[in-house]
Amino acid sequence: QTVYLSDYKPFGWRVEDVSLTFRLAPEATRILSRIRFAPDPAAPAQDFFLHGEDVSLIRATIDGAEVTPEITPQGLRCAVPEGAFTWEAEVEIAPASNTALEGLYMSGGMYCTQCEAEGFRKITYYPDRPDVMATFSVRIESDLPVLLSNGNPTGSGDGWAEWHDPWPKPAYLFALVTGDLRNHPDTFTTRSGKEVALNIWVRPGDEGKCAWGMEALKKSMTWDEEVHGREYDLDVFNIVAVDDFNMGAMENKGLNIFNSAAVLASPETATDANFERIESIIAHEYFHNWTGNRITCRDWFQLCLKEGLTVFRDQQFTSDLRSAAVKRIEDVAQLRARQFPEDQGPLAHPVRPESFQEINNFYTATVYEKGAEVIGMLKRLVGDEAYAKALDLYFDRHDGDAATIEDWLRVFEDATGRDLSQFKRWYSQAGTPRLSVEEAWDDGTYTLTFTQVTPPTPGQPDKAPQVIPIAVGLLSPNGDEAVPTRMLEMTEGKQSFAFEGLSARPVPSILRGFSAPVVLERDVPAEERAFLLAHDADPFNRWDSSRSLAREALIAMIRDGAEPDATWIDALGRVLRDETLDPAFRALMLGLPTQAELAQVLHEKGVTPDPDAICNSTEAMADAMAKRFEPMLDDLAAQAQVDAPYAPDAEQSGKRSLGGAVLALRTRLDGGAAARAQFAAADNMTLQLSALTCLIRAGEARAELDAFHDQWQGDRLVMDKWFGLQIAAADPAEAPDRAKALTQHPAFDWKNPNRFRAVLGALAMNHAGFHHKTGAGYRLLADWLLRLDPLNPQTTARMCSAFQTWRRYDTGRQAMMKEQLERIAAKDGLSRDTSEMVGRILS
Ligand code: ARG
Ligand code: ZN
Repeated sequence: QTVYLSDYKPFGWRVEDVSLTFRLAPEATRILSRIRFAPDPAAPAQDFFLHGEDVSLIRATIDGAEVTPEITPQGLRCAVPEGAFTWEAEVEIAPASNTALEGLYMSGGMYCTQCEAEGFRKITYYPDRPDVMATFSVRIESDLPVLLSNGNPTGSGDGWAEWHDPWPKPAYLFALVTGDLRNHPDTFTTRSGKEVALNIWVRPGDEGKCAWGMEALKKSMTWDEEVHGREYDLDVFNIVAVDDFNMGAMENKGLNIFNSAAVLASPETATDANFERIESIIAHEYFHNWTGNRITCRDWFQLCLKEGLTVFRDQQFTSDLRSAAVKRIEDVAQLRARQFPEDQGPLAHPVRPESFQEINNFYTATVYEKGAEVIGMLKRLVGDEAYAKALDLYFDRHDGDAATIEDWLRVFEDATGRDLSQFKRWYSQAGTPRLSVEEAWDDGTYTLTFTQVTPPTPGQPDKAPQVIPIAVGLLSPNGDEAVPTRMLEMTEGKQSFAFEGLSARPVPSILRGFSAPVVLERDVPAEERAFLLAHDADPFNRWDSSRSLAREALIAMIRDGAEPDATWIDALGRVLRDETLDPAFRALMLGLPTQAELAQVLHEKGVTPDPDAICNSTEAMADAMAKRFEPMLDDLAAQAQVDAPYAPDAEQSGKRSLGGAVLALRTRLDGGAAARAQFAAADNMTLQLSALTCLIRAGEARAELDAFHDQWQGDRLVMDKWFGLQIAAADPAEAPDRAKALTQHPAFDWKNPNRFRAVLGALAMNHAGFHHKTGAGYRLLADWLLRLDPLNPQTTARMCSAFQTWRRYDTGRQAMMKEQLERIAAKDGLSRDTSEMVGRILS
């Protein structure tokens, strides 16, 4: 049942062409396939096997003659001629009963597909593996008005439409959508003068929420032309919004399918953060056209080849369009919150895993976000120019290929002459390296000595040294840059770097821009951190100094009952008053580490985290900040004021996020008066929701929650916010009960992944609420995961990761979490997805 990277073998045939006809009906869709196979002389001899799951074979022929294949639960085997042949089959499937949202399924009256990673085999019999690439022609027969598939439209009439995709692609990029849809059309002219028709297709009523996504698409198309010289390659580009979707979105060739939450937005219904996320997901899926589709993956172990690179590209896009410093801080905060716990717990796996049972369980923060960090390191090591050259070579050499990480690294070796064999460990070694630092000062020479250690992870007891790019700048005692940023390249377990000719002992700014995904272990005196907080020229490290001070102060409060650190609060106050600083940056400076992050850091220090103590200390710290900053709140609020019509751009959203942070502090002082006023006056969702959040936290939101419900009950995406926020911002003591009550609300449509996650995902994110000492949070989540698993294994398995940190808590909580994990594991007929996840978490 386990698949290994080392077992890779090519398929024995090439697929020259695929024709599919879909006769759509909710319970009995017929699919006719005609596929040209030709033996691949380079492949090892093998049986002819086609994947197929949950499909009924009606009939099959080879070169027109009826055949009777041997059918298994995974597919079919059949005797075939020696040379090339034409396979034809007719199968039947039931999209309306497909609750797993994988393959062809129905959502709100429309038909749609999700084939990555291995969903095409639920549509028809096929060699469903990414290294089998073919051109597809599709005919759709249906009474629904809009009939879409990949590629270019080639004909349509009453009740039918035909499409042809001239670009060979693996089956996971296949897509089909039909429904009563409305479109938001536009056009884009590529730089070589080709006109492309763009459409965003939505359900009636959502037409007004497409404009932002369309702008983002055009910006993405321009960016990929300008930065990488990559043009779009079909006559049309379609995007469809679907309400029931397991993930964010999918890059199917020419027909991207989006979770509606990842594309639909209007100022009244979406927050600034939603707008930014939509912009980056549209870019991400569009960028896949080159990094993913034109160049795809040989097998699923190479997933980071397309995902790490495409995340890196969408991050660059956002930093180019908005503020690079703010984007970097947000990304690192996410990495620490999501990837570090994964890399330091039972689910740790390399960026390129070497085995799996269910590939859907490996669409992880490690593959995506750490995968992007690895590309960032490569770029830092070779430099911007060489990186651009290597990417040109990659597109040139591998266009049309199903490639591997080895291919990717070879491109960099060939373009730069560098040996990347040691660097490759970033792809094979799991775990977060710990980097410790010693310093020495001697007569004008300042020396930094680094030691790296990567702790053991499941299946990898011993680790070898990694190549770590360490960006270092040195500050002189007056705060100027004595030595501007230098990229140190660490390759050994312990290594020293000397800076000569200095007139005074400097203060080091280490790991600028978070130049490598490591934990920097350095006991920095608080005065030195405060000095960096005041003077560091690197905005990331400036933020991180403050974050570290806050973390250390909170840990002292949690462990030793210390008082909030007035020195840090004062230093932060000086930064907040600095009007030359971007409001978005100041808002980030005001954010405290999350409670989960504090639990993670305590665990790293060998301390058992106490969720209630973490929560109480965080509250006490925020109260102390509110008191200390009270005199400047009016000024800050005035600077956060936006006096222009709403736009979700970096400038306005930065101001609103500062305003939101100020309102949160103010609510601790005024009991909610300002928040109530903002809620009443709000004409956009960002202001409305930030006010509502403050009121919920203050326990003063009853009337506003009802008003919000009545105002938005007709809007599914806003109602997800209504469900989620009540749990995310709930008093932890009440969070499990409130979540339980919401699961009984008539609008709790638990089969919809967005709604399920709104309540149960929010519970898992409310740290002290989930870890309620009665175990009520654990039980509620497990109850619902057990209920969802038979219907939707993918979403169930993904949400099991809420339990991944179980071993770090006290014995009482450990026992309760283990009990729930074992209860899930013991369930009869548990899906392969969930059983793999629970098994790994318990192991
Ligand atoms: N390739 C998609 C993206 O990152 C994600 C699809 C994930 N699907 C899945 N079943 N795991 O853009
Ligand atoms: Zn992707």
